[in-house]
Amino acid sequence: MKNVLIVGGAGYIGSHAVKRFMAEGINPVVFDNLIAGHRDAVLCKDFFLGDLNNKEDISAVFEKFDIDAVMHFAAHCYVGESVENPEKYYFNNVVGGLNLLSAMMKADVKNLIFSSTCAIYGNPVEIPITEAHPKAPINPYGTTKYLFEKAMEDYSVAYGLRYVSLRYFNAAGADPTGELGERHDPETHLIPVVLMAASGEKDGVTIFGDDYDTPDGTCVRDYIHISDLISAHLLAYARLEGGGESEAFNLGSESGYSVKEVIDVCREVTGLDVKVTIGKRRPGDPPVLVAKSEKIQSEMGFRLEYPELVDIVQTAWNFMQKRKMVK
Ligand SMILES: NC(=O)c1ccc[n+]([C@@H]2O[C@H](COP(=O)([O-])OP(=O)(O)OC[C@H]3O[C@@H](n4cnc5c(N)ncnc54)[C@H](O)[C@@H]3O)[C@@H](O)[C@H]2O)c1
Repeated sequence: MKNVLIVGGAGYIGSHAVKRFMAEGINPVVFDNLIAGHRDAVLCKDFFLGDLNNKEDISAVFEKFDIDAVMHFAAHCYVGESVENPEKYYFNNVVGGLNLLSAMMKADVKNLIFSSTCAIYGNPVEIPITEAHPKAPINPYGTTKYLFEKAMEDYSVAYGLRYVSLRYFNAAGADPTGELGERHDPETHLIPVVLMAASGEKDGVTIFGDDYDTPDGTCVRDYIHISDLISAHLLAYARLEGGGESEAFNLGSESGYSVKEVIDVCREVTGLDVKVTIGKRRPGDPPVLVAKSEKIQSEMGFRLEYPELVDIVQTAWNFMQKRKMVK
């Protein structure tokens, strides 16, 4: 059986990857320092508690297991925090990532799938956003992801690294069985925040600006179901296994929903009301962020299984109810 190292496999997206790769008959080996992940979300047997910032920790995994490919989900991911404390982000997301690359090269493991982000594009100059859009991140979080993409490009030329970089838009929803889901602390993602407000777990929701140049004045974003996101990782794995070239792909649903539309769908799914307050715009929030995801469809045959926002919200709500995260 092939072993895939899942770095950050105790987190939201990584834990879903573990479950799907197991179902596909591929053995996941998880490496995570549990700074933001949950040990009980790791459904496979092989778990290493370790920190990417410690070279010995990550090298030890490659000594113990014959690793076929690596998926790199581990990062700090709060945009606002990255502005206040860039050092934390550069060390974890860039230096930690370089430690992973060094350990891979030392162990002669060449295949890598990386969790990148639409934040590398910065303020959009065209919508929908294609992979060719200028890369001009406007916060340290986005910059760290962009720097790691550049490192992968250079390592591929010099050392034969082979990679697929997946530039996620907004990952959302939960494992359709309700076994896994989103448990960030603090939670800043819109859908779980609105669901917590619907259930009374939070007082309400603040909309950051309702005077944008969008149909209802609130920001429009692209939400992709976690199951679809993980399907793209399976395709990326197959691409690298099959000798395909290193490449970066957008990963979104290509549909834009406004904050108000998301709140309405949450009301519809839960049957509960959500108290809404209108706040000020947040600096650096573009009015619209929607992906053009045609490249991953045409080059890797990617198709959405959950295109409807209502299904994304329903699976998130099922998970939160099952875990009694909501009142
Ligand atoms: N959630 C989204 O919508 C979204 C969008 C774009 C990109 N991404 C990227 O996807 C990846 C996963 O996101 P997520 O929402 O699952 O985040 P998450 O915080 O739930 O998961 C990240 C995991 O990495 C682990 N980790 C962090 N630093 C580590 C280190 N130094 N050593 C070992 N483990 C470490 C954490 O403990 C956690 O389990 C991140 O790289 C993020 O930047 C996420």
